[in-house]
Amino acid sequence: MERAKYRPILHFTPKQHWLNDPNGLIYFEGEYHLFYQYHPHSSIWGPMHWGHAVSKDLITWEELDIALYPDEHGYAFSGSAVVDWNNTSGLFPEKPGIVAVYTSHLEPTEASPSVQRQSLAYSQDNGRTWIKYAGNPVLTHPSKADFRDPKVFWSEAHGKWVMVLATDQTITFYSSPNLRDWRLESEFGEGAGSHDAVWECPDLFQLPVEGTGDSKWVLLVSIGDNSGQRYGSRTQYFVGEFDGSVFTPEHSDIRWLDYGKDNYAGVSFSGIPAADGRRIFIGWMNNWRYANHIPSQGWRGAMTVPRVLTLHAAEGRTLIRQQPVAELDRYFAETAALPDMLLTPGEHRYLSSKASAMELRLELENNEAEQFGLIIHHTDTEHTELIYSAAEGILALRRDQSGETGFSEIFPDLQSTGRMGSLKNLRILLDACSVEVFANDGLSAITSLVFPGDACTGLTFYSTGGSVQLRGNQSFIR
Ligand code: FRU
Repeated sequence: MERAKYRPILHFTPKQHWLNDPNGLIYFEGEYHLFYQYHPHSSIWGPMHWGHAVSKDLITWEELDIALYPDEHGYAFSGSAVVDWNNTSGLFPEKPGIVAVYTSHLEPTEASPSVQRQSLAYSQDNGRTWIKYAGNPVLTHPSKADFRDPKVFWSEAHGKWVMVLATDQTITFYSSPNLRDWRLESEFGEGAGSHDAVWECPDLFQLPVEGTGDSKWVLLVSIGDNSGQRYGSRTQYFVGEFDGSVFTPEHSDIRWLDYGKDNYAGVSFSGIPAADGRRIFIGWMNNWRYANHIPSQGWRGAMTVPRVLTLHAAEGRTLIRQQPVAELDRYFAETAALPDMLLTPGEHRYLSSKASAMELRLELENNEAEQFGLIIHHTDTEHTELIYSAAEGILALRRDQSGETGFSEIFPDLQSTGRMGSLKNLRILLDACSVEVFANDGLSAITSLVFPGDACTGLTFYSTGGSVQLRGNQSFIR
């Protein structure tokens, strides 16, 4: 069957209709589960359900029946899933199963504002069918209007469930012995990080610091539809300590998970076996500023490629590194070395390179260029350009001529990393509607939608002001 225009090969999209946040990411009995905010009747946002897909390898997904429907408590907003191994909830007398903890959202009416409360649903058959817990909702708040997106995990060290919840522009921590009764622990966020808009979709987990025996806690916080900011919605993170009750960050600067506009509401998998040990993250590859307007052929919305997160300490700062999961590699049957290139100042080198999806890995050596650039030619007239400028130490992605861009005023804006020092390497994953850039082994990422006529027809490498030596390879799906 002909693949519809813009339909990616290596990224999850629903067969039809609207998708936003990843929900309930969990690994259980040999399957990865991806639930997601889903509107089954339209390709714009509306009454939220949890769509459901499963995968054996995080790349090929099989879409299953809808898991959660709206009910008398409202729409099924974002949340997480856990395996209740020890039947703390009492819901699994026979064998361990999955509990989804999600937000029940009542739309505002003329008589009352919106109401958000936390609910449970559980599955005794590997996520195929779901029962709403009879005692819903299990957690309410007397005053907060934005009270949502619970991420729950079992804290072995403290012998209790911990819930991280977005509450207006803070994160509130709760704990529970049984997933049903929740106790307030603490609140974080006043005066910390970016407050450009409402806080959403938190996640909290421990990550090893590479090359040390140490680990630190990471708190992810997505920032919503900030109409005053050209960036739109994006995700910040804090590195610090968590003692089972209180989160304490070790820095006061604002840190962005991604410098592209299209990595939002991302969270990590629960239940990854200890022998694997990875912290695997998936984001919604979109931005609330234009999510309802991106070109759509009956489906709208895609997930980022799943990424492994680790921590890298350098110069007194501990930062997140993200790289696509290794499972991706075997999807590229064909890999070819790039010709070794010494780009002299002013030189443009074109390589014909036709692919429906592609991964490009590039090492830059003896880099004396003032500017190094890579143009991805989608068609004769459409291209996306990556520009590294040495003076600033910044990598930027230009998509103003990448194809369809007119649906949003901010879509054509340049997307730039923070100062990242010299550019040593690039890994670029290109699919039918996205460019994901991982610079310097994933210490800076730019995730960006594009809507071109073709994924790739050719590449141009150039340098100005000095020379640079390039080595690398390309992997294709033709
Ligand atoms: C984030 C978000 C969540 C909410 C969901 C509704 O993108 O706004 O805060 O639960 O989407 O679909």
